[in-house]
Order: sequence, then structure tokens, then C-alpha cells
Amino acid sequence: MKKILLSVCVILYAAASQAQKSSMREYVDQLMRKMTLHEKIGQLNLMVAGDITTGGVMDTRVGGDIAAGNIGGVFNIKGIDKIRAIQDIAVKKSRLGIPLIVGMDVIHGYETIFPIPLAMSCSWDMEAIERSAMIAAKECSADGINWTFSPMTDIALDARWGRISEGGGEDPFLGSRIAEAMVRGYQGDYSKPYNIMACLKHFALYGAVEAGRDYNTVDMSRIRMYNRYFPPYKAAVDAGVGSVMSSFNIVDGEHATANRWLLTDLLRDQWNFDGFVVTDYESIGEMTKHGFAPLAESSVMALRAGTDMDMCSRGFVGTLEKSLKEGLVTIEEIDLACRRVLEAKYKLGLFADPYKYLDKKRAKKDIFTAENRKAARDIAAETFVLLKNEGNLLPLKKQGKIALIGPLANTRSNITGTWCVAQTPERYSTLKDGMERAVGDKAVVLYAQGCNISRDEAFQRDSEFGRTIERGDEKQLKAEAVQVAGMADVIVCAMGECSEMSGESSSRANLDLPDVQMELLKELVALGKPVVLLNFSGRPTVMKWEDDNVQAILNVWFGGSEAADAIADVVFGDKVPCGRLTATMPQAVGQLPLYYNHLNTGRPVPEGANKYYKYRSNYLDMRNDPLYPFGYGLSYTTFSYSDLQLSSNTMAADGDVKVSVMVTNTGGRDAAEVVQLYIRDVFASIARPVKELKGFERIELKAGESRRVEFTVTPDLLKFYNRNLDFVLEPGDFEIMVGPNSRDLKKLKLTVK
Ligand code: BGC
Repeated sequence: MKKILLSVCVILYAAASQAQKSSMREYVDQLMRKMTLHEKIGQLNLMVAGDITTGGVMDTRVGGDIAAGNIGGVFNIKGIDKIRAIQDIAVKKSRLGIPLIVGMDVIHGYETIFPIPLAMSCSWDMEAIERSAMIAAKECSADGINWTFSPMTDIALDARWGRISEGGGEDPFLGSRIAEAMVRGYQGDYSKPYNIMACLKHFALYGAVEAGRDYNTVDMSRIRMYNRYFPPYKAAVDAGVGSVMSSFNIVDGEHATANRWLLTDLLRDQWNFDGFVVTDYESIGEMTKHGFAPLAESSVMALRAGTDMDMCSRGFVGTLEKSLKEGLVTIEEIDLACRRVLEAKYKLGLFADPYKYLDKKRAKKDIFTAENRKAARDIAAETFVLLKNEGNLLPLKKQGKIALIGPLANTRSNITGTWCVAQTPERYSTLKDGMERAVGDKAVVLYAQGCNISRDEAFQRDSEFGRTIERGDEKQLKAEAVQVAGMADVIVCAMGECSEMSGESSSRANLDLPDVQMELLKELVALGKPVVLLNFSGRPTVMKWEDDNVQAILNVWFGGSEAADAIADVVFGDKVPCGRLTATMPQAVGQLPLYYNHLNTGRPVPEGANKYYKYRSNYLDMRNDPLYPFGYGLSYTTFSYSDLQLSSNTMAADGDVKVSVMVTNTGGRDAAEVVQLYIRDVFASIARPVKELKGFERIELKAGESRRVEFTVTPDLLKFYNRNLDFVLEPGDFEIMVGPNSRDLKKLKLTVK
């Protein structure tokens, strides 16, 4: 009975969505019949509307362009009045009154800001991630935004690349689950006033830029693309993402923005993507510098490849009319792109009500609410990764004198992380505020800045990108810090990167704690008092010296608007840290790119080897192992894994098996643990990784509690893209591994017949 009901529901749903699609098509058909060529091309033009002020909006270039039908959408403009003013022009002053799509980089929250995406991934908490996207959508849509340039689903293996902060780390399986959760959170089914359109980016392979230098070249085999880099993009498409942003880089020798194989054959024909494709910022214009062609020709190439909307190059709006006359593009190609942009507006409900996202009542009540802030604080605490905790120094007791030292201790604008277009730092707390609030009158927090972000003033200024941390005299700052530390029982260092030291255009060749910060840390450690390092970072950084010398290290990334309280929650033990790394932390930059799911060599060294092996794949001056592996993170309790079982040690190629393990909380605190499943295909027709994440479950265990955690190994989990790019399962032996991180695993053998 249940099955019959379910099938009826599926049929009804399919029929309803078919009907919706055909009314959308009809609506757009009718509209397009009225549109001039000029108006059609105008829909393909996306511009920044940064200089808009409500009063003089018609006098700005953007205002005039909207009225003339030259613009289909705008982005990164904040404020419901300003957005209403430009929507008014589109609706009332342009000939056909076609509403604008209004975008923004709402990457990890709007005014309530969540941790940076890399940190969010360390929570391994898909519900929380989905909720964060929904809250971001609720807030920005209350302020006029209906389209976000998120999620970024670029796999990144090289921590030098600053944009590793914007994605979900190095793993395609985890990255795929995150991509789906975010698309669901933003878009829902477009039926609610707070459902906005998501934009998966950057398609494709942007995370693989050579040497971790932003905007650099990418070159890789299709086998690697399909198996390692594509899964999260595809997962977002399968989840119904409404738009896709092409990337700045080369894919297979062509610019991603003008790559027909990528944007049409793969994205649309193989993956059935039915939304629209927008370029990244000025990508079409940049094709000239890449050495492809001048603007007009690049625009032709981009359109013909499957690009629908041009972000800021003015290539489509400036050249396509002429190219059409010259026969370089067809009217069908222009129509198709225009249709896709209009369909997006239809899906968002903008034709039914162009002011749908411009409800002033919502703007007043839905943004930066106590409820949203609580969610952000809770999630932030889940993202911190406890890397070391000698002698259980953490959690600190709320007693005595606590010295809080470092350039990240007393800043509001640098606590949120990169990409906070809408942030309102004046309303956020500094870490100092958060710690003082947490201890109340039970303890004293003594504060000293201690040092600048870096010795080099220009480097600090460039890294800050406007989010200034005041500079002081180096000697004086240090003397104050040493004096303050001398009076304290314990020293807490708030050090690391400032917010914009990761993110776009923030590649680094050195990943150590910057010079003056390291010098101060060494001096503080030399005092012989207990030291906790709170490492602020937008990427895995190098902490070899810290790991050898500092008693406790908590990686706090950039935790968003509520980071201060969330950090205090964990430092003082009101919450138990449960973040697990999603990007490997190296011992040295020279190991990069470093990732757990690498291929083997013919001359491997044993994992954990602590000596050099001649004629093997290793370094003379460093071991291969990371400082902290993928999946790793400590807790205030301990967990044990025992009794790994397979329901059968053979599996039919179309069957499945259960794998289960007993997990016990062996310590004294209730806490969350992330149980991780990995597999290895022992022999295969193409080289396969030494291990690959294929499942995870985040569980809460009371102190002393045990639970059996079970995963189902299905054929799909064992499949990969072979030499012909077919997704296949090759029978044979597999290793099935379960454990608390990618290093400490229990193993069984499974044979697929
Ligand atoms: C970035 C994108 C972003 C766009 C719009 C570009 O520079 O690469 O990620 O969405 O700007 O702000």
C-alpha cells in the first residue's frame, strides 16, 4: 500500500513539475516574441551596481543601462531601498518591464555570518550546513537579494591557494554531500519567499591552479577530472542547482568560459543541467590576455560554448549584435541564452511579483536575529578542530588570571573571514569580549595585542584589504605582552592569519605563522607557563614548531559573526570540540600538494615511516606524513573503535554488504564523534587512491556509552570512471576501513564477485 501511494505521489509530482515547466516555457515564449534583439542581449549582461544611491540612481550608468534594456541582472549591492530603486527602473522605466535578477556573494551568511566554508566542512554536519545556507538565504532575501554565488565546490589540494577557504576541502565524497546540502538550503523548491537561486562555482577545476597561485593554469587528465574534481559539481547539479559559474582557468587548453565540451557536452548533455551559466568576473574580457582572442571574438566563443550571462566584461552587450550581422553567431544561440536567463527569473517568481524579495517588513525582522545568531554560534563551535591538547590543558577553568595575547584577540572585522560582503562588524564581538563574557567575575582576562600581523607593513596592509588591525611599535607591543603574560596563570594566544589573508587573490608561498607572531609565541612559550594557541586561518597552515612546543592548539579558522562566543564556549568547556580536518595539514609547504587520497607509487614508503629510504618516494629532509591527517581532530573525551564486522566478506556486483563498528566514548564528557568509512580498490584497470572516503556518520555519545555504527557498501561506492570515462565497478578485492580519521583505521577485506 505504502509503495503504491509513493508511486502515485511520484507520478503526481512529475506531472505537476511538467505542467509548471510548460507554463514557464509558454510565458517565456510570449515574452521573447515581444523582445528586440537588443533587449535579448541586454538580458545576458550582468553588472556590479556598487555606486548606486537611492536618490540619484537614474543618473548612474547602471540606472541608464537598466532603463535602456541593457542589463539583465546586478550584483553585490546592499540595502533594500537601493535594490528597490533599481528594480523600479527595470519594471517601470524599461520598455518591457522585465525584472532584474539581483545577486550577491553570500558565501557564508549575510549579516549573521557563519564560519568560512572550509571550517563549516570540518563540522561534517550536513544538517547544520543546510541550515546555515537556509538562514543565509532568509537574511539576504529579506534585503532584496535573490541569487547567491555559492556554493563553491572546487576541490583544493594545495593550501597555498587562498581560496581553499571557500570550499569544502580535499575530498570529493564529502564535498558532494556539502554541495547538495547547500543547494537544498538556499533554493528549497523556490516556493518560499526566502528561497533564492544558488550558483555552483567555479566550473571547473579552479581549485587545481598550479603552485596554488590564484588564477593560474590548470592542466589535468580527464580521468582525474571525473574521479577527483567533478563529483561535487555534479552533486550540486543533481540537487537541482539553478545556475553555474564558469571558472577563470583553462580546462583542456581552452578557457572554461569558452569550453563547449565542458559547458554543453558535459554539463548539459551528460549531466542534464537545465539552468543558466554565468561567467566569472570579466572572464570573457580576460580571454584576450590568455591569448585566445579580442573581446568580440571571445564573446562569440563563450556564447557558442554555452555561456548565457556575461559578468562585467560588457562583451555580449557590446559586440554580439555586430557578430550576429557578420554571421558569427546565430539568433538561435542568442535566444537560447536569453531564454535560460528569463527562465531563472520565472523560477524565482520575479515575473509574478518583481518585488517578491523587497518586503521591508522582512528586512526589519529577519536579519541578524537572536535565533540566527544562536545557530551561527552553535555551528561555529562544531567547526573548531582541536589539534593538540597535552595534559588536557583545555578546557580552561574559569578561574585565576588568563592572559589573552595576539593581533586577532581584539578585532571585530577580522573574526568573520573572507567574503563577507554584507557584514556589519560594529555589531560583532571581539574574542576579548567573548572571553570576558564567558568568565564573568570568576576570572580575570588580561589583554595585550603583543605584535602586529607581520613585520612588513606593506604585507600586512595588502593582507588586510581594508579590514585594518592597528599597528603598534614592535618592541613596545612585545614588552607589554610579556609583562601581561608574566602576571597570568595561563596564556591564550590569538594568532594566525587576518581575514583576507585567505580567499581570492590571497595565495601564500609560506604558510608559517608570520614572523613577528612566531617570535612572540616563542617568547611566551619560553616563560614556561601553560600556553594555548588559537590558530586563526583560512587554510591549513604549517605548525610544526607549534606542535612540538605549544601545549594546546585549537584551530578556530574564521568562525563568523558569533565566533567570539563560540570560541569561548569551547575554550572553557561549555561545549566539546568536535571538528575534524577536511584538508590535510602539512609539516612544510614543500610537501604540497598533500592529500590523503593520493595514488600510490611503485616505490612507496610505509605510512608513518620515520626514516629516509633510498630509491623510494620520499624526501631527504622531511617525512611524507602530514602534521595532522584528513579527518583528524581531538575531543575533550576519548573514543575507542572495536569489533569491525562485515555482513559478508563477498559481495555480488549488484548486491551490497553492511559494515559496522562499535564506537565507545571512553572519556568523561558527552561528545560528538565523526565515524569515517574508507575503501581501497586493491587492483584496478587504472590507478586508484590508497584510500577514499565513502561514508561518515556524526554521532553523539554520552560518556561511557557505546554504539554500533553501520554503513552500507553499495556498488556505486566502489565504482570509478575508467579509461573510457565509464562509471564502472571492477570485481576483485577491496579494503574496507573504518576509524576516527584517515590514518587510524581498522581494516577488513571484501571481495566483489
Ligand atoms: C570571484 C567569484 C565571485 C565573483 C563576483 C570573482 O572575482 O572569483 O567567486 O562570485 O567575483 O563577486
